[in-house]
Amino acid sequence: MSDFILETRHLVKEFRGFVAVNDVNLQVTRGHIHALIGPNGAGKTTCFNLLTKFLTPTSGSILFAGTDITSESSAHIARRGIIRSFQISAVFPQLSVLENVRIGLQRPTGLSYHFWRSDKILNRLNDRAMELLAEVDLADFAHESTANLPYGRKRALEIATTLAMEPELMLLDEPTQGMGHEDVDRVTRLIEKVSAGRTILMVEHNMNVVASIANRITVLARGAVLAEGSYQEVSRDPAVMEAYMGTTEGELEGAH
Ligand SMILES: Nc1ncnc2c1ncn2[C@@H]1O[C@H](COP(=O)(O)OP(=O)(O)OP(=O)(O)O)[C@@H](O)[C@H]1O
Ligand SMILES: [Mg+2]
Repeated sequence: MSDFILETRHLVKEFRGFVAVNDVNLQVTRGHIHALIGPNGAGKTTCFNLLTKFLTPTSGSILFAGTDITSESSAHIARRGIIRSFQISAVFPQLSVLENVRIGLQRPTGLSYHFWRSDKILNRLNDRAMELLAEVDLADFAHESTANLPYGRKRALEIATTLAMEPELMLLDEPTQGMGHEDVDRVTRLIEKVSAGRTILMVEHNMNVVASIANRITVLARGAVLAEGSYQEVSRDPAVMEAYMGTTEGELEGAH
């Protein structure tokens, strides 16, 4: 079996002639936390949208565990265990924290169309939901209304609902965006914890987070791969430093 759980080959996405993703060859090693970084507009989110089938590539291919998934639907790849968090896993604010995780648990079991009719089935899911909440440190908030959760805790809940779908590969787009120090630390530790036994590909602007948990980093600039390696390697790369100049200056030193 391939060491790479995810690969892209010559991936290209053009928007009316504008090349947002330009010949990207990505190789994500199974079990890694792999970070995708780069200045604003580098093509990171577009890459994620290609990987999760929100967008169709102009050319190139995407392989999951050696299988070409380029033409598969987003529902199909979700069944393969490729799950994106933070942009699609909306949590329902009017429901309790526990109820939100139960909904995530119902997706793989196919109960979603009648879940509201059968409290019995739901209660069977409670144990698993509580386990997941404990995993993300939210057990004490289980019966709290989700709307009342602090921001960082909502993100932890999103991780729990994503875990409920049993991802083999989790894609996180800016998981610590808009957070204060404490929440950033909490969510960073959480990502590290839930990475056990799975692979994580994350877009992240906060270089402290990248430096502390990423096994490997791919730097994108103007749609293309500029550098790749460990944090030590890419943070010293003159081309990387230049790409960050004038856009997000100082970020490589971990300004946030
Ligand atoms: N649907 C679209 N139509 C046209 N251009 C687009 C579209 N989506 C993205 N782009 C352009 O593609 C480029 C890459 O955008 P993308 O959102 O992927 O960057 P990013 O690396 O995620 O940036 P950020 O760090 O700001 O989130 C940008 O110049 C953007 O304007
Ligand atoms: Mg983006």
